[in-house]
Amino acid sequence: MNANYSDNNAALSALYGAHLDTVKARHDHALEQAGASHAVIFSGAPKLAFLDDYYHPFKANPHFVGWAPLTALPYSYIVYTPGETPVLVYYQPRDYWHVVPDIPSGYWTDHFDIRVVNESDEAAGHLPEDREKCIAIGEFDDDTLAFGIERINPNTAINILHFARGVKTEYELAVMRLAAERGAAGHLAAEAAFRDGQPEFEIHRAYCQAVSHTDPELPYGNIIALNEHGAVLHYTDLDRTAPADMRSFLIDAGAQVHGYASDITRTYANGDQRFADLIARMEQLELEIVSNVEAGVDYRDLHVGAHGMIAAVLVEAGLAHGEPDTLLETGVTSAFFPHGLGHLLGIQVHDVGGHQQDEAGNIIDPPSGHPFLRLTRVLEEDMVLTIEPGIYVIDMLLENLRGTPAESHVNWETVDWLRPFGGIRIEDDVRVMAGTQENLTRDAFARVS
Ligand code: GLY
Ligand code: MN
Ligand code: MN
Repeated sequence: MNANYSDNNAALSALYGAHLDTVKARHDHALEQAGASHAVIFSGAPKLAFLDDYYHPFKANPHFVGWAPLTALPYSYIVYTPGETPVLVYYQPRDYWHVVPDIPSGYWTDHFDIRVVNESDEAAGHLPEDREKCIAIGEFDDDTLAFGIERINPNTAINILHFARGVKTEYELAVMRLAAERGAAGHLAAEAAFRDGQPEFEIHRAYCQAVSHTDPELPYGNIIALNEHGAVLHYTDLDRTAPADMRSFLIDAGAQVHGYASDITRTYANGDQRFADLIARMEQLELEIVSNVEAGVDYRDLHVGAHGMIAAVLVEAGLAHGEPDTLLETGVTSAFFPHGLGHLLGIQVHDVGGHQQDEAGNIIDPPSGHPFLRLTRVLEEDMVLTIEPGIYVIDMLLENLRGTPAESHVNWETVDWLRPFGGIRIEDDVRVMAGTQENLTRDAFARVS
């Protein structure tokens, strides 16, 4: 693994203490509002496949990962009492069937009182005795793993923690820059495999090799889509043979570092100048939207504004005609661009709290007609979000326009031209700043190119 991603990273070590202070302060506030004295954060339990004795890939509780970069440590607990050093109950089973988690090491360890346990029920002895003053945070399919704590994931606390997670600490930003860099290196390898005429499966392998991830380590299933497959928004099949005619390549793939994700999309043409020009135009549009990201902006406005910009591109490309407002109102832009402009990004690819108006849990609904928008908040400094406009030929949606006022605004012959290329999406990860923004993805490509 690249040294930058190791547990001995000096830069991350310098930032981690302040990160933990922020995490503690958020929990202090959440505990106070919930009327509790201790938070017990459970890492999670692996899930067995139905009727089988094999486990699904383990996905740690994101609340746990927010405390420490421990993405592969089931049956473990962080016990936090305001004012005290957090206790990490670190489960290291005596198990000769599986690899056992190593002795804890790395930049984060000095900040915890670490108690290694070999049996999962030994953890009970490290929890506060007064269970009534505890809240437990995590997924408890088996209640006994909460060791008698009855208040599990109380809304008061969870809403506070989720709302706060929208804003990243300096440590989180540093980790996410590394995740962006790792993903960018994967994208370069994938583009090279595409230029070499490889099928989707081999492009995927080239990506995984470059980022040094197994499939379960990827933050989400890679979208490696040649030709028409680019129109399937979550295309995760991997054709084993290359198409005879390679026209286009849409790749939506990320990487993770210490549990934090990047989420990056690029689209490439393979010689067709008209399609290449449309990609260039969409890139210009994407960068313009990114340039509008700053603290105080309502993300719903960015999304609706993007529809207006896409309307202009549809007209320029000869895919539609009419006034932008008409193309929005009649549903033409939504048929070509049916997903949200983006979402919060962090430990989860679609990070929590995107619809939260406040820490009390009030919700800001997506604008009417835009149900899939995952981020509706007013942007704050150090939020990290994606900007990912796209246009696609999705016949299921375009056919719905037939027989409506929209039908006459679509140039169906141009749609027929675009269909074999699938679609175009360009996605960057962006940090919100005062009056400006930081493009984590473009900066990462500049570093690795
Ligand atoms: N890769 C999932 C997304 O872009 O939201
Ligand atoms: Mn995304
Ligand atoms: Mn994506």
